[in-house]
Parts: sequence; C-alpha cells; structure tokens
Amino acid sequence: MSLLDIDGLRVVYPNGHEALRSVSLHAGQGEIIAVIGRSGAGKSTLLRCIAGLQRPTAGAIRLEGEDIARVGPERLRAIYRRVGFIWQEYHLVERLSAFANVLIGRLGHTPGPASLLGYFNRHHRAIAVHQLERVGLLEKARQRADRLSGGEKQRVAIARALAQEPVLLLADEPVASLDPELAAQVLGDLSRIAREDGVLTIMNLHQVALARAFADRVVGIARGEVVYDGPPQGLDASVLDRIYRFDRPAAEAMEREAETSHGR
Ligand SMILES: Nc1ncnc2c1ncn2[C@@H]1O[C@H](COP(=O)(O)OP(=O)(O)O)[C@@H](O)[C@H]1O
Ligand SMILES: [Mg+2]
Repeated sequence: MSLLDIDGLRVVYPNGHEALRSVSLHAGQGEIIAVIGRSGAGKSTLLRCIAGLQRPTAGAIRLEGEDIARVGPERLRAIYRRVGFIWQEYHLVERLSAFANVLIGRLGHTPGPASLLGYFNRHHRAIAVHQLERVGLLEKARQRADRLSGGEKQRVAIARALAQEPVLLLADEPVASLDPELAAQVLGDLSRIAREDGVLTIMNLHQVALARAFADRVVGIARGEVVYDGPPQGLDASVLDRIYRFDRPAAEAMEREAETSHGR
C-alpha cells in the first residue's frame, strides 16, 4: 500500500468519450510528480478523479488504503481535509484579504459553528501567517485578493492549500496563467515547500521544461493512457515522441528542447 494507489482507472464521459483507459499510478509520501501530455490527453480528468470531483467508470483510487468510492460522506470529508488543491485560476475569494483566504484552508480543521462565525483561534491564525511567510507574501497579508497580481494570487492559493496541512497536494496547470519567469518562481516555491514538508504533490504541467526542472518523477499521458512513468532524466526524444506523438508541432518543439536541454 502506498499513500496513493490508483488501479485500472477508466473514465468514460456521458457523451461516450473515453478520457482515461486503465490508468494505474502508485505514489508515496514526499514525491513531486509532474503529469504531462498534450491538451486533451486526460490530465485534468485524472486529477479530478483523485480530487473526488469525477466519478470513475471503473477502477479504484485509494488514499492511505481507503477506496474513496466506498467510504461514507463523513469519512470522505475527513480524507479530503488533508488534500490541498491548486487550480490554474486560483479560486480565491476576491473580496477577502490574502490572510483570510489562507485561513479558509483551516476550515476543515475547525468545528462547524466556529468556522461559520469566521472564528479562528490563535493556533489557526499562526498557521496562516506562517504559510503566507513561506510563500513570501506576509507583507501582503491585509491586501484584498482582487488587488494582487497573478503570481501573488497563486502564492496565496498555495499558502491556503498548505494551511490544510495536507498529505497530498493536487495542482492542475498551476502556473499556466503566469509568464514564464514567474511560472518558474512560483513552481519553485511550490516544489521546495512540498519537498520540505514531505507532501506528495501531483501537478499537471503544460511545459516539459518545468516538469524537468521541478519534478522527481514524470508521468506522461497520451490518449488516456500512461505511456511514461519515470525520472525526468528519462525524457528523451523517443519518450517525448510517445507522449506527444499525436501532436506533431508540439512534439517537434519538445524534441528541439530535449536536444538543447542539459537536464536539471
Ligand atoms: N465533461 C466532459 N464531457 C465529455 N468529454 C470531456 C469532458 N471533460 C473532458 N472531456 C474530454 O476528455 C478528454 C480529456 O480531457 P482532459 O482531462 O481535460 O484533458 P487535459 O487536461 O489533458 O487537456 C478530452 O478529449 C476532453 O475533450
Ligand atoms: Mg487540463
């Protein structure tokens, strides 16, 4: 048993499209995994299944040995309390401060009535401050989320996910809305902190270069199937061709990148 065990995962959408066919993935504490593949390969579908937002057609997803399709709603809530999500579009509460947004990450750890009243004790507030500090945003704590830049917003979203004290972090194209330099910085922060905390992190990434730079393990998906699962160093031209085969221009760009890249 690993922290996350996915076996024979299949997803067929109501329109009959098979987005995932028999995907298996086993991952343990502290691994930083990048999922790569062309647009439409099935990356988001996979993450949505792990996040409990998409019901698999077949197969099993186990978190710490528990099959998420078989546990009751209360247990499911307890499991997902320790799963943090980071989305491309941040999903912050725009009119709340950065600090209040990070405190939202503590909601799962506070009893119902207290959280409804917006009451967070000193312990929760200290965690929120600490996480904002780690992403370098302490001085923006009081700023409304809608006044933050894109990079700052995603840092707040990262701090919010960390405030959950997660065992698993899921990030779907977390830096796709940021310019390249900022994308690398934000992903650098995310992977550094996840590594420090030993949090299993699974991130869908559009760019192979980012996967190479920040992941320990790369899972390549093509047409709903895992076609590569290994270290970033193994992403040679033939592997990239397998992953991006059905997307000729992208595959060629990747190959050029592979030729000029010196790995990590
Ligand atoms: N709700 C849906 N209904 C039907 N098809 C979908 C739905 N969501 C995604 N798809 C299709 O499933 C495939 C995989 O999508 P997705 O997981 O979003 O891929 P990726 O994130 O790799 O771009 C695509 O062909 C997409 O068009
Ligand atoms: Mg996607």
